[in-house]
Amino acid sequence: MTTQHTWTDYAQKTIRHEPSRPLQYALKLISERPPRLRTALDLGCGAGNEVMALLERGWQVTALDIDGGVLDRLRERASNYADHLTLAQGEFHRMPRRKYGLIYASRSLPFATPEEWQKAWRTIANNVAVNGIVMALLFGNEDELLPAGRRVLVNTDEARALLPGFEIISLREHRGEGRRVRDGSTYHSHELVLAARKVKA
Ligand SMILES: C[S@@+](CC[C@H](N)C(=O)[O-])C[C@H]1O[C@@H](n2cnc3c(N)ncnc32)[C@H](O)[C@@H]1O
Repeated sequence: MTTQHTWTDYAQKTIRHEPSRPLQYALKLISERPPRLRTALDLGCGAGNEVMALLERGWQVTALDIDGGVLDRLRERASNYADHLTLAQGEFHRMPRRKYGLIYASRSLPFATPEEWQKAWRTIANNVAVNGIVMALLFGNEDELLPAGRRVLVNTDEARALLPGFEIISLREHRGEGRRVRDGSTYHSHELVLAARKVKA
């Protein structure tokens, strides 16, 4: 009998209480030049660690994921913040259309199909408020987590071109040994962390 590892299992194993460093950095960038809106969208929210951190800081948060089990667990986890949280199930480009001061996407967008990927980035660009921040953790083209063709991998030039007209605040590359959440095995990891600001409507 084989056991299928689902995104709900992944979320269950990755519950943390500290916000990720990229989220902390995004909040720092926002404090330096705040957008008008304190609304955030987490694309592919998983366990919802960053969703929780944003709710605790008074943000109005939309959490999107394709996996209904992930969202059911997050609904329970965030039950004290029901008035501030919108849950949306679907692919990335089906995000609720409104303006967001922050769009955060950690290790999620690369799981889109190439067509969804294109649509997702266009929709992200349209739905960020002026001065809003996009923080995205992407997989670089050397990343070996999954066999080729199972995710969208990008090089730094491709990552820089994802949000035309945005100011690229930083694009950091991290190479190292990754550990699979599923079974703890290791692989060569190559991650790109993109921080960008929308400068005009
Ligand atoms: C590797 S997990 C990352 C979760 C979380 N952002 C984190 O950093 O721990 C990828 C998440 O993206 C979601 N996902 C995968 N493909 C998706 C798609 N096409 N549209 C929306 N969500 C998707 C999965 O359900 C999962 O929760």
